[in-house]
Amino acid sequence: MAMHENKSLSSVMVIFGGTGDLTHRKLMPALYNLVYDNLLPQNFAVAVVGRRSKTNDQYRDEVFESLKKFSRNKIDEGHWNKLRNLIYYVQFDFTDMSGYEKLKAQIAQLEQEYNIQSGRVFYLAVAPEYFETIVHGIHSSGLHRNGNYWSRLVIEKPFGKDLITAKKLNNKLLEVFEEKDIYRIDHYLGKEMIQNIMVLRFCNTVFESLWSNKYIDHIQISLCEKSGVGTRGGYYESSGAMRDMVQNHIVQILSLVAMEPPIDLKTDAIRTEKLKVIQAIDCFTPELLRDNVVFGQYGRGVVDGVPVPGYREEENVPKDSKTETFVAIKLHINNFRWAGTPFYIRTGKRLGADFSEIVVQFKPMPDILYFKEKYLQEPNLLVIRIQPNVGVFFQFNTRNFNTHNDIVSTKMEAGQINREAGNTPEAYERLIYDILRGDATLFSRWDEVEASWYFADRIIEYKDQKKFNFPNYDAGTMGPVKAFELLARDGRQWFNI
Ligand code: BG6
Repeated sequence: MAMHENKSLSSVMVIFGGTGDLTHRKLMPALYNLVYDNLLPQNFAVAVVGRRSKTNDQYRDEVFESLKKFSRNKIDEGHWNKLRNLIYYVQFDFTDMSGYEKLKAQIAQLEQEYNIQSGRVFYLAVAPEYFETIVHGIHSSGLHRNGNYWSRLVIEKPFGKDLITAKKLNNKLLEVFEEKDIYRIDHYLGKEMIQNIMVLRFCNTVFESLWSNKYIDHIQISLCEKSGVGTRGGYYESSGAMRDMVQNHIVQILSLVAMEPPIDLKTDAIRTEKLKVIQAIDCFTPELLRDNVVFGQYGRGVVDGVPVPGYREEENVPKDSKTETFVAIKLHINNFRWAGTPFYIRTGKRLGADFSEIVVQFKPMPDILYFKEKYLQEPNLLVIRIQPNVGVFFQFNTRNFNTHNDIVSTKMEAGQINREAGNTPEAYERLIYDILRGDATLFSRWDEVEASWYFADRIIEYKDQKKFNFPNYDAGTMGPVKAFELLARDGRQWFNI
């Protein structure tokens, strides 16, 4: 990120859902770190809307406690005081339309006091059932009308629960904001290595010239979590792994991995190429759904030596829940570059390992000179490590110095950074920074969301029609046996390198 280019921008950021988890865990730490790195506009203030009654000071003290827990940089008094003085708490219930007048007065006061003559950001960090109500409140109070200056709407996922509801929501938003001013958050796009996918591909001849069905055997995308649903059982019940992770994060990663080079680096050029990938995902026939999609739900088990409950025993989850906490899919992208090369994707909760990775396996060499016994040949692998470690791993073959004849696979780690050491910016820092600068490249355009629902809806419908024997994997394992069979059938295996 450049340090100074946004100094002249000034804005008020309104966060709806100020007392919520997202604000405390992600948004406030991101704002603190932007202050720390001197990346916020010089004239800037935050109005936080919450239902509970509190004073500015009470709210600021709560933020301070959250920062101590969740910020990647240590909290020092100077930076904290700088942020503290920018935060104002506005109490009202989102459904109470008179509250928006109160907010309007607060924004006007902040704009005057902080000499803000530019933009307004409306960040909806709330449960999706409030999206339309809040946008209606913004509309009827005219908060979005900001003279000659801009107003942007930031909306968290889930963006609808299927294509129909997503379209309905989108139409409501478009009554108030233009598409260019709607920032649909997919926080995976703010992660360091996700932004690095395009650079790795389009800045390296060695990768891009091999990046197709001619040289790539298959690609895996795994987003695996050890944690369960915790206190989010209510939300997760209406979502499941398909809506929570696949329709958004995985589809976005897939589109970056498989896209054609855009004509330039402008937002729409990139989004257009990503869209084409989503549209090219091969249609799932009933047979393909049966053979290529695996659903799972965790039962009791042991994670890191600690016994944990099954999904159906979690808070706010019915005892006979049919919600999937795991999904694995084999899919094809039906275009010239990728026809014939499968993509395997998987995501799940309460798995035995916590990691997000993209694995690219290259095709084998003929077994003529060195690999006379097939099992000796280790594949060339490129692994893009998204988290917890951040970097690139590459595996290639060399001659063993000691035994003279054996071929050994050499494993090379590059630029590995440990997220826990706090040395890479959090996704939300990048995303908030981009919202304030008006760069929408790392946000999803409506037609991408539309195409990804089209893909996800079929799989979700199939799941809803079928009766699965849940739970079908123990917490602490790597998912249902069928997920392993999905690859074994093709002579392949999941990697966790
Ligand atoms: C969120 C999902 O979008 O992503 C959560 O709703 C999931 O269920 C989370 O745990 C994973 O994000 P991260 O950044 O922790 O990998």
